Amino acid sequence: MSLTRTFLPMLGHTRGNRDAATCHFKCGDACAKDVCNTSSNSYFRDIADAALSRRSILGIGAVASAALVVGVETVGATAAHADTVVAPNGGGKLSFQAIAPVPRTVDAMTVPEGYDWAPIIRWGDPLFNHAPKFDITKQSAKRQAGQFGYNNDYLNIIVDKYSGRSGVLVANHEYTNEDLMFDPTWFQANKAEAAKIAMAAHGFSVVEVKRVKAGTPWTYVRGGERNRRITATTAFAIDGPAAGSELLKTVADPTGRKALGTLNNCAGGTTPWGTVLSGEENFNQYFRGTGSETDARYGIADKATERGWEDVDPRFSAHNPGYENEINRFGWIVEIDPQNPDSTPVKHTALGRFKHEGANVLIADDGRVVAYSGDDERFDYVYKFVSKAKYRRGDRKHNMTLLSEGDLYVAKFSGNSPASQIDGSAAVPADGSFDGAGTWIPLVKDGASKVPGMSLEEVLVYTRLAGDKVGATKMDRPEDVEPSPVTGKLYIALTNNTQRDTTGKATVDEANPRTRNRDGHVIELTERNNNATGTAFAWNILLVAGDPSKDASTYFSGYPKDKVSPISCPDNLAFDSKGNLWISTDGQPGTIGYCDALHKVTLTGAERGKVEQFLAVPAGAETCGPLIHDRDGSVFVAVQHPGEGGTFADPISFFPDYVLNPSKAKRGEVYGPRPSVVQVFTSAKGHGPKK
Ligand code: FEO
Ligand code: CA
Ligand code: CA
Repeated sequence: MSLTRTFLPMLGHTRGNRDAATCHFKCGDACAKDVCNTSSNSYFRDIADAALSRRSILGIGAVASAALVVGVETVGATAAHADTVVAPNGGGKLSFQAIAPVPRTVDAMTVPEGYDWAPIIRWGDPLFNHAPKFDITKQSAKRQAGQFGYNNDYLNIIVDKYSGRSGVLVANHEYTNEDLMFDPTWFQANKAEAAKIAMAAHGFSVVEVKRVKAGTPWTYVRGGERNRRITATTAFAIDGPAAGSELLKTVADPTGRKALGTLNNCAGGTTPWGTVLSGEENFNQYFRGTGSETDARYGIADKATERGWEDVDPRFSAHNPGYENEINRFGWIVEIDPQNPDSTPVKHTALGRFKHEGANVLIADDGRVVAYSGDDERFDYVYKFVSKAKYRRGDRKHNMTLLSEGDLYVAKFSGNSPASQIDGSAAVPADGSFDGAGTWIPLVKDGASKVPGMSLEEVLVYTRLAGDKVGATKMDRPEDVEPSPVTGKLYIALTNNTQRDTTGKATVDEANPRTRNRDGHVIELTERNNNATGTAFAWNILLVAGDPSKDASTYFSGYPKDKVSPISCPDNLAFDSKGNLWISTDGQPGTIGYCDALHKVTLTGAERGKVEQFLAVPAGAETCGPLIHDRDGSVFVAVQHPGEGGTFADPISFFPDYVLNPSKAKRGEVYGPRPSVVQVFTSAKGHGPKK
């Protein structure tokens, strides 16, 4: 991999959307490449299948199902810390005055008046007593494997019920940016070790945290008994219907049931039984493929990878005999038990294989669990999984099997306005909203494939091709797909798709109504009769993002455009205890010119559609993993890739420690950017760690 910026292929080709370095390191320049989905499945507007009438659509979802449970449960008996809960987000101590958007070159964490912030843990901080303190001049794979990884994305803090003063912080580490991690001279002479460091900087960290009392800031516990690193080489179990398939066997694993490592873990979710799910997203960029049809659909190229991991580990090239199927062992939802550091994490084949952004689980009225997941690629799909077995409160061992067997569906959206009113300008149609009905099309039902010409194993391993065959709706890059814990309604962040409605690509439709959708939009989906296990839904667009002061194609559910914060490229979603939606962004610097942000969005009442910016992250960074503990007056974000666009020698960010003058830094002291988990708290309680 070249560390010289001019070698980055996305330079000048980012379509005003991302920094070139972000495109390169994060997604493998996905936007510069051909669209993976060349299928000719219809892009609806056909309302013929709308068994749901307009009247019935309006009638559903008005009242939340009382039996629907999201994200709160006592953790069961098997773990050492048995009486643990997934922290409820309660109360309402997060009043704030929206901040002004922050120009994209500003290298600062910006929080509202009356709030303060501090990092909890940074890239390189040691998790174990034996792990060394971070020294960027002495980094090695062994040292990294004992330290917090790079580019934290999904985030949760699971509070121990018995004290409220302890818990575990879980974060995944999506990818590495060698431009910022390594001195270029050292890198050129030590590429093999650099690759191994990068592998050790991927995966997950589980780290214990403590605080003086509820409501005060957290600090992390070096040497905590639940502390754990999971990396690109950690042993995983493969489970579900495709486990043991010929498609998953390699020379190193003739059983097809044991994989090594997890890659490019992006967003995630915490299950009601206290485990953490995470999506293996842009896994394609780590592998050299063979140019097969399935490789093409997943964006896997037959050429040397930029990361060059195939030079240090034969798994990463399908040309190495016996490793043809290694790539099929990535692209899954993984489940990790953060309470038990000795547990084997699992890859769930029942949820299908694609570029999973993440997965979020709710418990349906009948006790089965439903997991929603988006495939983050232009023109790809939204999925849901419905478990065969039912949730049993308090039976953690049983509940940890729920994602191993069930039905898999893909979404088809139909609009209810005439096609002539969906002209690409995102002008609201005459009926007053972008809305309609939808169908969950079965891919797997009752343990059998429902896709003509594909076996059960093929549907699960090549899920994108299965979605193509049944006519799923091509969406504008589905990121987080997250149910509200208050209403059960589902929110889908469609981050952007600048190729929408361009030559040879899918046209606009009511669910993706903007030509060259640079700024993205958010869909609100309501399962028919609040039945999350059913196959019918209604949907509407909550907001069409952008800077409303400059862009007429924005929409905020009718809320006055001069009273909202500009927002672009919605990515990760979270909710507070009152059911407000919080949206983090990934790409605002390249679109509307502001640092990425965290916004609160009101969903109900007269202020529905009101967007208020809560914070901004530093130059080059993306806001990830928002976590809203409003009962504690706290917000947490994973600040990912701060300083991206700069280099090791010429940083554009000094977050989070802001040692500004390298000549004054002690030997080995880091003065460049470090991805970190940050807590934001009311300054009245600001006795957190020193910044
Ligand atoms: Fe890793 Fe879809 O963002
Ligand atoms: Ca409509
Ligand atoms: Ca994301």
